[in-house]
Amino acid sequence: MSAHAPGLVLTDQFGRGIEYLRISVTDRCNFRCVYCMPQEGLPWLPKAEILRYEEIAEVVRQLAPLGLRRVRITGGEPTIRPGLEQLIAQLRAVAEVEDIALSTNGAKLPQMAAGLRAAGLDRVNISADSLRPDRIVAIARRDLGLDPLVAFDAALAAGLGPVKLNVVVMRGINDDEVADFARLTLDRALHVRFIELMPVGDLRELTFDHVVPSTEVLERVASLGALAEDEGPARGNGPAAYYRLAGAAGTIGVITPMTHTYCGSCNRVRLTADGRLRTCLYGDHEVALREPLRAGEPLEPLFRRALAEKPKEHSLLQLKVGGLKALSQVGG
Ligand code: 5AD
Ligand code: SF4
Repeated sequence: MSAHAPGLVLTDQFGRGIEYLRISVTDRCNFRCVYCMPQEGLPWLPKAEILRYEEIAEVVRQLAPLGLRRVRITGGEPTIRPGLEQLIAQLRAVAEVEDIALSTNGAKLPQMAAGLRAAGLDRVNISADSLRPDRIVAIARRDLGLDPLVAFDAALAAGLGPVKLNVVVMRGINDDEVADFARLTLDRALHVRFIELMPVGDLRELTFDHVVPSTEVLERVASLGALAEDEGPARGNGPAAYYRLAGAAGTIGVITPMTHTYCGSCNRVRLTADGRLRTCLYGDHEVALREPLRAGEPLEPLFRRALAEKPKEHSLLQLKVGGLKALSQVGG
């Protein structure tokens, strides 16, 4: 942030500088992960309400002079929106944007990784909740032949590293694979991140009983050997705490939405697929940008209003199951 004149950088009411935007390009997905969506899907947004790529790029162009430096493309599943490479190329053309990342379930990465890289994508995070084919299908409720390690290899081969694998840990569902995932980091330069399940949306099948605190996850990892704190992948930014097994090529991170709040260092806002700027994952702190954008109005006053209302921290721990929207609806 230091490179900018004082007053130009967007800060919120608590002085947190906002340099990171998560952009949801679609609310749809080719999976139906148990922790994210009901089997039958969700009421999808009509196409006319979804920002066009050019409109997304315009939001980024207007945020960039105010301090935006990194973007992440999310969904839903971003790779199912046609022509995603066009958006990446438009974002790459914004000089201030230093880092363009993508979060994906990985199913389409083997075909798409090289093209995404060529368009200007820097790196990817891949969701990988199991290493066992039958379980992958059971958790995703879809059989797209996903092999997380094939997706990882494709990403790395295309130059999309450092690659992070995101594992949502669920008691009785995949928590017995924690050590298997951690072991992958011994000889692969990958970064496994164990995420505490957030019982969001109308999930029915998952409750607070399925949450495995990260302290417990780290105890299981420690059965493999001593863990040292680590800076994690160089270009990381966000709420994970990282560790490394002695001599390992990769790192192990934990993300603790349920047991800790990391909101004090929050550097991010979210753009939903239908053009709302959300300043916190939880609660309805958002400002609609789509109509002003389509009317050609400047967005900076709206950015500032959104930031002025950004909450100090999330209220996830006070909420009950069903009180939160699915992450596919708010941009992960
Ligand atoms: N709990 C925790 N993480 C979630 N994600 C989505 N839904 C949840 C949830 N209920 C995150 C995970 C997943 C990505 C698609 O979004 O990181 O890999
Ligand atoms: Fe930031 Fe909101 Fe997440 Fe806290 S809950 S880390 S304030 S986005």
